[in-house]
Amino acid sequence: MAKSVLVTRQPLGRALEIISADASVDLWGGDVSMPRAELLARVASVDGLYCMLNDRIDRELLAAAPQLRVVSTMAVGVDNIDLAVCTRRDVVVGHTPGVLTEATADLAVALLLATARRLGEGIEQVSSGRWGEFQPDLLLGRDVHSSVIGIVGPGRIGSAVARRAAGFGASILYTGPTAKPTLEQEFGAKRRDLSGLLSEADHVMLTAPLRPDTHHLIDASALRLMKSTATLINVARGPLVDTAALYEALRSGWIAAAGLDVTDPEPLPADHPLLGLPNCVVLPHLGSASVQTRTEMAEMAARNLVLGLNGEPMEACANPEVYA
Ligand code: DGY
Repeated sequence: MAKSVLVTRQPLGRALEIISADASVDLWGGDVSMPRAELLARVASVDGLYCMLNDRIDRELLAAAPQLRVVSTMAVGVDNIDLAVCTRRDVVVGHTPGVLTEATADLAVALLLATARRLGEGIEQVSSGRWGEFQPDLLLGRDVHSSVIGIVGPGRIGSAVARRAAGFGASILYTGPTAKPTLEQEFGAKRRDLSGLLSEADHVMLTAPLRPDTHHLIDASALRLMKSTATLINVARGPLVDTAALYEALRSGWIAAAGLDVTDPEPLPADHPLLGLPNCVVLPHLGSASVQTRTEMAEMAARNLVLGLNGEPMEACANPEVYA
């Protein structure tokens, strides 16, 4: 019998072609996420689900999808997917690590520079017609070159950020569950516990996955450990940071500035107090948003889906224990 697949957003590149060659496709054509009720109804009779990071794949969805065997997400992060429930149900989950590493690291550095060097405030002065004569003390930021950059979560993306930081002549600190001898040998990176890194770094870069143990990793007490001149950059997942504590830290000067590519909630409502702070730069989750990278992610997710449906090993599987 033909396999059937639900695709929750018009995919990029050749992704649809790759899936359609192997299965019949039900495509959500909307330009916003599938409403939950629609998703639950349309997943009822499919073998495979091609989803986005903002589709919640949880116990309720799996209960509504008795035939489901494969979930493939167009993202490296799988915090929107209940992996334990998928594994119990023998539903194999594909994701897209690797192809987005460099683009996300590029964006992390762009956001660091924009935040530490106050580019948002500068652009706003020019576009609002408030650009006056040269002033020696106008919008002074903090150096990125020769600074101490602390990487929280030195996985693929964190390591790619470290490589770029070394190019800026920065000293590199990292914190994570395992030592990274390659980072230490190639870039002279030094391992610290989280408190040590927060108190020593000029710029703290969050690149760790969101899991129960990293939820609100950066809370009020963590922010209090940082230098009052420090910058916090988050390109991982919003809930790594306690948003209310960050607002207080930026407002009260516990830290100098924050650059967020991800937020909690996401998106931030237009009237959210963080958006009114001049020392907070917020981007709409653009880490992997280059034409080439998003196309590669879309096509890799399509190949993962087809491989999973055919009972073959995926290019990247988030719950390989299903095969055990
Ligand atoms: C991911 O893949 O998890 C990113 O957040 C989007 O590129």
